[in-house]
Parts: sequence; structure tokens; C-alpha cells
Amino acid sequence: MKTYRFVIPPKTQSLLKRIGRLADERGEAAYAVGGFVRDLFLKRPGVDIDITVEGDGVTFAEELARRTGSEVEAFSRFGTSIVVIPGFGKVDVVTARTESYESPGALPSVKKGGILQDLYRRDFTVNAMALSLSPGYFLRLLDPFGGLEDLRKGRIRALHEKSFVDDPTRIFRAVRFEQRFRKRIEEKTQRWLLASVKGRFIDRVSGERLRNELRLIFLEPYPERAVRRLDELGVLPHIHPALGVSASSKKALPRIADCIRFFQKNKMPLEEERMAWFQALLSARGEGDVEGLCKRLMLSRTEQKIVAQSAKAYPALLKELAKEESTVSRMYRLLCPLRPEVQCFLMASAPPPLRAKMARYFTKVQGSVPWLRGRDLQALGIPPGFRYSFILLEALNGQLDGKFKNRREALEWVKKSFVS
Ligand code: CTP
Repeated sequence: MKTYRFVIPPKTQSLLKRIGRLADERGEAAYAVGGFVRDLFLKRPGVDIDITVEGDGVTFAEELARRTGSEVEAFSRFGTSIVVIPGFGKVDVVTARTESYESPGALPSVKKGGILQDLYRRDFTVNAMALSLSPGYFLRLLDPFGGLEDLRKGRIRALHEKSFVDDPTRIFRAVRFEQRFRKRIEEKTQRWLLASVKGRFIDRVSGERLRNELRLIFLEPYPERAVRRLDELGVLPHIHPALGVSASSKKALPRIADCIRFFQKNKMPLEEERMAWFQALLSARGEGDVEGLCKRLMLSRTEQKIVAQSAKAYPALLKELAKEESTVSRMYRLLCPLRPEVQCFLMASAPPPLRAKMARYFTKVQGSVPWLRGRDLQALGIPPGFRYSFILLEALNGQLDGKFKNRREALEWVKKSFVS
């Protein structure tokens, strides 16, 4: 059995002491909680600290900010404040509270409570541990639900049967933590999770929150594992019927990370990197499906554009690209109008020979500036007009396909063909 001990970096430790003393002075009690405590035991200390105060979190955060010369951002509806401490990081401060859910999937209403109630409102046992910061009990562990034992045994366990009904976004969190920490969703918890999925509780979650959960999954170091698991648990079609991992997307999934790296290495930045992953979730690609999906997830304009382009291009465009006679200029015509995120997904989906061909294409075309511009045609005395776009396109095709070795040869060709 693994044993867990934790080491806190000295700078963090002295800040925690300071927080504990401040709470004590105010007649309150402060605790380090949630992901911060979990990650200490997992020896993955993060920079951000989660603090729960039995008292008034908002004025506590203000005082902490004043004493550390920091800025504070407050979200008072939930009694949450973020103190941004220069040279350190973020400290999230909340008032210890209980939560009740008026309806499944809605945001909870909150009431002040004690630390135990605060831990009970949380998602999983591993996230429901606290370290006391009070001077007399500094770093004493409160673990009322056996979070440490679950970390040791490799289990993601919900605290109660209604957890996924109250907050169905926990379905995504369970999968995310399971894959990130290489743990396993505990059996009973999985039954509760599946009951929430089958009970269609995801329907009640706003598009914005769902989109955010997917985004967080795509930001994990190995999103493909979490995506496969969501598929295995049958979660995706419950977000929208157009979502699901098709047999061909299953093959593409393990290659997406490599293709993203290829694009980065070749200086073809993906503005919306996670959208390279998102395309692997499209099981239905009809116009109506795509429109419905974009609405459901409240996708941004750019995201919508990527999804629409991908729905049209995949898999038909792969067949076109694979054709023998696909010259560089033809590939350029097919790929150039697409967003890099779509090009990246297509590359990940392509069978090995086409993928290699696309890699050669991208390496060649990337950074190749057209040798001829409109001003070159003007200098040759060709009157400006619609012919320009035709000549320039042909010149670019010739450049890409190796018909011209250099700019001089391209100019020669224009002179011969268009200047009488
Ligand atoms: N939490 C919860 N239910 C949610 C979201 C959050 O119970 N739907 C609780 C958990 O106790 C969690 C804490 O709020 O630990 C902080 O949430 P968040 O910052 O989203 O999660 P972390 O556990 O810190 O995860 P990450 O490492 O991904 O930031």
C-alpha cells in the first residue's frame, strides 16, 4: 500500500502560517482545502491555494490582500474571493458553507456553515480533505470521508448518491481526475454516475458549463484517455446526439497530440488548440446536427466555424487529398481555405501514407511566400484587372509544384505568357 506524506515548499508554508494567524486574530478558523490538499498528498504541489474560512471569507480575503500588498477579486454570490499575491500565485478564499440544489444541474444556493459541512458539499472524497491552519493545530488533517485512503487505493469516490444529480458536471470531473491521476472511479460511484447520465440530468446543465468541462478535459495532458472514457460511459450523446466517438475518430485520437505538436513545431499556431480534439467527438456531421450542437454548447463564432468546416471536410477531403495526382498546388487549394485546427484534425485522421504526404506538404508550404505579387505584374506593364488573380494563382501553383525554380523563372513565365 502506498503511504502518502507531504512536503510543503517553505514559501507556501510561511504563507499558510500567516493565513492561520490572521484567522486566529479575527476569531475565525482557516483551512487549506480541496485540490490543494489532494495535490500535496500526490506530490504535485500546485501554486494556487484553496482556503476555507469559518467566518467571513470576503472580509478575510480583503484583510489578507491588504497585509500582503495584493489585489483581490471577489465573487460575492458564492462568498468566493481570489487574492492574487505578487510573486506567489492565487489564493482562493471561500466562506465555509453548505450548498443546496433547488433543481438538478442549476447553480446551488449557499448558506454559511462549518468546515465539516463545507467538506460534505464537495464532489469526491479526495477533494474533501482539509488541513487546519490554526496556530494550535497547524497542518492537522481533517479527512472525514476517507479521502486519503481512497488516494492510496486509487479510487475516485463521490460522497453521496445525489452528487451527480445535484451537479452533473461532476460526471466530467470524475472522468478527468480518474485519467489525470490514473485512479479508477469506484464501483458504487460509477453506478451513481451512470444513473445521472441515464436520467438525462446533463440536459439541465447550461451549454456554457458543459463547454467549459470539455475545455478542461482537452487541457489535460492526455485528453484522449478521458475522451475514450466519456465514450465508454455513454456520456457524449447525452450532451448532444451529434456527439460520440466514431470508429474512425477512435483511430485518430491517439495521433491528435502529435499532430498538434507538429503544427506548433512548424510555426502554424492553432488559435483554438482544444478544437483539434473537439472534432474527434463529432459523430454526426449533417448541417442540422452541427447547428444544434453549436447552439447547445454555446460555441463561439470561431469554434462554430471550425466545427462547420470540419463537418464538411471530413472524410470527403481526405479521399481527395489521397488521390495520386494530388500535386502540392492541388493540396494547397484544398487545404488552404481551412482553419489550421481543421487541417490538424484531418492530418490526425489520415492513414499513414497520406499523413506523411500532408507532413511533407505542410513543411514545404509553410513559410513559402508567393514569389510574385500584383506590383510585379504592374512593373511588367500588365494593366490591373481581374486577370491579376488568375496570373498570381497560376504563378503560385507553378512555384509550389516546382515548375519554377526561383522568382526569376516565375517572372520569365509571366513575361512570355502575358506580355505581348
Ligand atoms: N468542487 C465540487 N464540485 C464541483 C466543482 C468543485 O465539489 N463541481 C470542489 C472540489 O472540492 C474541488 C474544489 O471545489 O476540489 C475546487 O474546485 P476546482 O478548482 O474546480 O477543482 P480542483 O480540485 O482544484 O481541480 P483542478 O486541479 O482541476 O483545478
